[in-house]
Amino acid sequence: MSRFIVQRKSQYDDLYKESVENPEKFWSDFAEDSFKWHRKWDKTLSYDLRKPTIKWFEGAQLNITENCIDRHLETIGDQTAIIFEPNNPDEDSQHITYQDLATNVNKTANMLKALGAKKGDRICIYMPMTPELAYTVLACARIGAIHSVVFAGFSAKSLSDRIEDAQCSMLVTADGGFRGQKITPLKEIADQALEHCDCIKRVLVLRRTGLEISMKADRDFWWHEAFEKAHDECVAEIMDAEDMLFILYTSGSTGKPKGMVHTCAGYMVYTNYSFRNVFQYEQGDIYWCTADIGWITGHSYILYGPLSAGATTLMFEGVPSYPDMGRFWNIVEKHQVNIFYTAPTAIRALASCDLSFVNSYDLSSLKTLGTVGEPINLEAWQWYDEHIGKKECPILDTWWQTETGGIMISSIAGVTEDIPTFATLPLPGIQPCLMDDMGNEIQALESEGKLCIKYPWPSMARTIYGNHQRFKETYYTAFEGKYFTGDGAKRDRRGNYRITGRVDDIVIVSGHNLGTAEIENAINEHPQVAESAVVGYPHPIKGNAIYAYVTLRGEFDASNASSLKSEINRLVSSTIGPISKPEKIQITGGLPKTRSGKIMRRILRKIAENELDKLGDTSTLLNPECVQEIIEGRYNS
Ligand code: WT7
Repeated sequence: MSRFIVQRKSQYDDLYKESVENPEKFWSDFAEDSFKWHRKWDKTLSYDLRKPTIKWFEGAQLNITENCIDRHLETIGDQTAIIFEPNNPDEDSQHITYQDLATNVNKTANMLKALGAKKGDRICIYMPMTPELAYTVLACARIGAIHSVVFAGFSAKSLSDRIEDAQCSMLVTADGGFRGQKITPLKEIADQALEHCDCIKRVLVLRRTGLEISMKADRDFWWHEAFEKAHDECVAEIMDAEDMLFILYTSGSTGKPKGMVHTCAGYMVYTNYSFRNVFQYEQGDIYWCTADIGWITGHSYILYGPLSAGATTLMFEGVPSYPDMGRFWNIVEKHQVNIFYTAPTAIRALASCDLSFVNSYDLSSLKTLGTVGEPINLEAWQWYDEHIGKKECPILDTWWQTETGGIMISSIAGVTEDIPTFATLPLPGIQPCLMDDMGNEIQALESEGKLCIKYPWPSMARTIYGNHQRFKETYYTAFEGKYFTGDGAKRDRRGNYRITGRVDDIVIVSGHNLGTAEIENAINEHPQVAESAVVGYPHPIKGNAIYAYVTLRGEFDASNASSLKSEINRLVSSTIGPISKPEKIQITGGLPKTRSGKIMRRILRKIAENELDKLGDTSTLLNPECVQEIIEGRYNS
C-alpha cells in the first residue's frame, strides 16, 4: 500500500505536514510511485499565481489511458472495469472488463481517427450515459484529442455556444437518450445546434433508442457502421504533461459559460490520489457515483479516478425516479454496491418518499457513502446516515469544483472523523485559507470568511479556453496570489471547514451550477421584457430554486400574467435547459438599483428568502419606492 494513501489519523497529520513543508517532493514522490510515465519530469512545479501560470510535472510524457487501461491488463484484465446499468430495469446490465474496455476504447479511437480526428482537435461529446460515452471520452484522450462533454440535458443553443467557443471539429452524439419514461431527441437537438456552427465537419451518431432521425450525407456517420470496420489496436499518443486533456464548461457570472481547461499529468495524478484516499477503495469493491459524465464529478470520479486506480465503477443511464423512487436502492442491492456517491438534492428527493422504497432492498453491501455538489443540510445528512448507511457507514461530504478538478476538502472514509454539515479537513497537499473583506488572511482557526486556496495543486484548472484574462479576473484578482473559490466558509477551532455557499452570482439548483446572468439574458430575449433580475432562494428539495423579477415594456395587462410567465419559462427552457426554469416569476414596476445603475440583487435575494428584516438601508437607492411594491407583490412561501 502506498504511504500516500492515509490509513490512520496520525498518518493524516504527518502527511499533511509533509505536504505543506515540501509540496514538490510530496507530489513528485507520489507521482513517481503511482503511474506509468514515458518520460519523467524535469521540474515538479513552476507557477506564478498573479499571471496566473501553473505548470506541473513539466517535461514529463504520458498517456492517461495507458494508466487507466493498459497497465491493468496483465494484473486485472478480467476484472470488471465498468458495470453498465441501463435506464430500463428489464434490459440486461453489462459487465465490461478491463480487457473489453481496452478493445472498445481502441476501436473507438481508430474510428475517430478514420473520421479525421487528430491530436489537439476539440471533439464535442453530447451523449446519453451509455458505455459508448465512456469509450468516446477515453478514445479522445488516447489519440490526444481534447474532449468537451456537454451534458445531454442542455438545449440546442447551449450546445452550439459550447461547440463554437471551443471550435470543435467533430461531434459525437446519439439518436436519442433514455431518461426514465422519456426520450431526449439528442440528434434532433444537435441538428438544430449545428445550423449555427460551421466548425463541425463530422458527426458520429450512436443508435441507442431507435428514434427516427435524419442523417446528413458526408457529415453524419453511424457509430455501429464505423465501429465494425475499426481495428482493435491503437497505440496511445504520447502527451506532454501540460497538454490539454479536456475542456468542461461551467456557468459564469456573466452570461457566457466558462470552458475550464484541465491538463494531462496533473489531472491524472490528483484524481487518482483523491479517489484512493477519500473513498479508501479496496480491490474488489463495487463503487457507484450517480453523477452524469457531463459534469466534472463524472469525469473525475466515474471515469479517470476510479479507472486509474483499477476500480470497478458503475455507470447508470437512468434517473432515480424510474421505474419508481426505489431505483437507486434496487441497483445497490442488485450489484452489491460498496461505495455510493451522490448529491444532496437526490438525497432530499428520496428522503421525501415513503421509506418502503428504501426498506424493500438489502443495502447491507454498503460500507461508505458520499455527497457532493452543495452543502448538505442536517436533516438530509441524518436521513442518509440512518436509512441508507444504517449508522454504520462513514459519510463523506466532499467539497470541490469543476475548477479544482478533484476533491479538496473531505473526510477520509473511516480514517478522519465525519461531522454532519462539515466538509471537514483538506486532503494532504491542499492548503485552504479564509480571507476577510479587507483582503487579509484570517489567522484565527475559529472564523468565517471567503474560501481561497493559497498553494497550487496538480489538478487545478489552467485557464478558461480562449480567455485567459477572464480566468485571471474570476479566480486570481480578488485576492492576490491566491485562488478564490467563490464560496464562503466557516472554520471551527479544530480546523474543520463548513462551506456556507456561493458568495457570487451562481445559484446551485438540484446540484447544478446556474449562472443568474445567463438566465437573465434568456428572459430578456422576450419581446415584452424590459429587464430582469434572477436570484436563488432556499427550496426544500432542490436546495435552491430560481426567483425571477421581471419588468416589462409598456403597459401590463394583469390578465395576461400567466401566459406571459409560461412563455418566459419556455424561453429559458429552450435557451439554456429545463433545469434553469424559474420556480417563481414576479412582474414588477421596477428593480432596485444603485445610483450607478447596478441592480441590487442582495435586496431581491432577501425578499425572495422572505427575510424582510434584513433588507438593510434602502434609502440610498436610486428608486427606493420600488422595494415596497416588490414586497407587496411577492410570493409568500
Ligand atoms: C460548487 C462547485 C464538484 C462537483 C460538483 C459541483 C458547491 C460542491 C460542495 C460541498 C458545499 C459544495 C460549491 C462549489 N459545492 N460540493 N460538499 N459542500 N458546497 O461542481 O458545478 O463546479 O460547483 O458547488 O459552491 O463552489 P461545480
